[in-house]
Amino acid sequence: MEKHIKTIGILTSGGDSPGMNAAIRAVTRTARFNNINVIGIQRGYQGLIDKEFLKFTSSSVSNTIQRGGTILKTARCKDFMTPKGRKIAHENMVEAGIDALIVIGGNGSLTGAQQFAREFDIPIIGLPGTIDNDLYGTDATIGYDSALNTIVECVDKIRDTANSHDRIFFIEVMGRDAGFLAQNSAIASGAEAAIIPESATDVDQLADFIERGKRKSKNSAIVLVSEAQKDGVGGAFYYAERVKKEYPQFDARVTILGHLQRGGTPSAYDRILASRMGYAAIEALLEGQRNIMIGIKNDEIVYVPISRAVKMNKPINQELITVLNVLSM
Ligand code: F6P
Repeated sequence: MEKHIKTIGILTSGGDSPGMNAAIRAVTRTARFNNINVIGIQRGYQGLIDKEFLKFTSSSVSNTIQRGGTILKTARCKDFMTPKGRKIAHENMVEAGIDALIVIGGNGSLTGAQQFAREFDIPIIGLPGTIDNDLYGTDATIGYDSALNTIVECVDKIRDTANSHDRIFFIEVMGRDAGFLAQNSAIASGAEAAIIPESATDVDQLADFIERGKRKSKNSAIVLVSEAQKDGVGGAFYYAERVKKEYPQFDARVTILGHLQRGGTPSAYDRILASRMGYAAIEALLEGQRNIMIGIKNDEIVYVPISRAVKMNKPINQELITVLNVLSM
């Protein structure tokens, strides 16, 4: 029988993502609606260790749904990776009367949550908050759509100058080890190609793209490149250097979009996703669920064991690769 939950703690961890505030708001308001107290924990797991606790009311989250970043602040916490750090975190939770934890973050943050839940008897509900979209069991993560829109806006601008100068632009985007941002922003911006880790088998993605371009006699091109590297292979500079050496007839340039992809106001899609997921997190706790991540599949909220969400590889839909190849002619 699940202990009656009187107080929850909520934190954001790892890289921030647009929509995290909408998720904090939804969790806080749904919890208060159900007479559950909310403690906002600042700076992710670090705040749990350093007791950076704030009592949250419904008005603590007023005027936040439209704001990027996270009002709780975030961190990548090394101390929490140690048994000693997690023990202190647990003691602080008990002292503050926190019965359950809502963790909003990406793969690393939810892996930490899983470890914490294994060592101590705490119900944890995870919300997928990352621009990378790399969590298994959910069609989308909070922040992914906003980041995609930001990337597309930037690529549209780069396209103007690429066309004017007949240049090939290698535009590097985030995603850590996953190519969702690169692949889908390539489709949405009408790019000529995407170089993603999921396709890095024995095919030379650069040679393949140049060959296709030659056949289509294009003078300028946009290539979205995932930031993922393996043994020094990968990233926009790597491909631009290769063009310089292997295809000197082309004039190549590099743009690294970097952290601007993580900022900005969340899209309507992310605000709605975060609101639904935050609401579902409290509903799940009240049902007695624990150690699950809230996901969305075919527009329905689903519960995914955190262990699966972080361990399983989320595949990229092969149709996306075909669509880009066909449409970039
Ligand atoms: O996981 C989100 C993410 O933005 C990745 O896409 C990227 O590789 C990483 O975080 C960058 O981390 P940091 O902000 O610590 O440089």
